[in-house]
Amino acid sequence: MALSRRVEPLVVRTVWWAARSPGRRRLLERLAQEIDEAVETTSGDERPRTLYQMRLLSPPAAPPAATEPFRPGLDEAALLGLIGRAFAWHPEEQWDGQRLRRELDTVGNPPDAIRLAWEGPELAGFCWTRLHRRPTGPVGELVIAGVDPARAGRGLGTATVAAGVAHLRSQHVHHVYLYVESSNVVAVRTYLRLGFEVYRAERRYGEAPLLPPGQVSESSPERRPST
Ligand SMILES: CC(C)(COP(=O)(O)OP(=O)(O)OC[C@H]1O[C@@H](n2cnc3c(N)ncnc32)[C@H](O)[C@@H]1OP(=O)(O)O)[C@@H](O)C(=O)NCCC(=O)NCCS
Repeated sequence: MALSRRVEPLVVRTVWWAARSPGRRRLLERLAQEIDEAVETTSGDERPRTLYQMRLLSPPAAPPAATEPFRPGLDEAALLGLIGRAFAWHPEEQWDGQRLRRELDTVGNPPDAIRLAWEGPELAGFCWTRLHRRPTGPVGELVIAGVDPARAGRGLGTATVAAGVAHLRSQHVHHVYLYVESSNVVAVRTYLRLGFEVYRAERRYGEAPLLPPGQVSESSPERRPST
C-alpha cells in the first residue's frame, strides 16, 4: 500500500506547507501528481480520494462571460438539463426537480447567485455561487459549475466561473473558495488558470475517486466511473 492512514498527516502537512506560497505551487502540483500515481497502485477501501479546497483572493485572471441571473419559474428545466449533461459521469450529482428545489431553498441562495451563460436560446454554462456572512466579513463559495459537453474545451468554463467570481467579488468578499476532486483535472486546470491556489487537501478513504470521462489513463480501467 503506497499511502496509509499513518502517513496521511505528514502528506497533509506537506501539502499545506507547499500551498502557502505561489512559488511552491509547482512543487505542490508535482506532489499531487505523485500522490495520484501512488493512488493508482492502491486498492480496495484504503484507496484515498482527495478533495482540494482552492482559494482566490484576487480578481479572476480571465475575462468573465456575459451571464444572466437564474429566473425562478423559467430556468429550472434548462438548468436541470445542463447539470444532467455536464455531470452525467458523477453519481453524487444526479439532480432532479426535488434536489434543485432543495438547493434553491437553502438560505443564502438568492436567484442572482446562480449565473447562467446563454448561447442564443440554449443554456451553455452555469456557475452557482454562495455568499457566507462570517464574523470576519463575507466569504464567497463556488458551489458547482459546468458547461455543456458539446461546448467544452473552448474557454466557456473559464469565463463562466470568472463570472461567478466577479459576482461574488461585487459583494466585497474577502476571498472565494471551492472544493474540487483532485482527479478532476480539467476543473482543477480551470481554477488554476483563474488564479485559484490549492489551500488545503483533504483525504477521504473508502470511496473511489470520481473521474470525468476522458480523464482516465488506459492503465487504470478500474477507475472509470460506472455510468
Ligand atoms: C470544468 C469545466 C467547467 C471546464 O469547462 P471548459 O469550457 O471545458 O474549460 P475551458 O475550455 O475553459 O478550459 C479550462 C482549462 O481546462 C483545460 N481543458 C479543457 N478541456 C480539457 C481536456 N479535455 N483535457 C485536459 N484539459 C482540458 C484547458 O486547456 C484549460 O486549461 P489551461 O488554461 O491550463 O490550458 C467543464 O469541463 C465541465 O463542465 N466539467 C464537468 C462538470 C465539472 O466537473 N465541474 C467542475 C466541478 S464543480
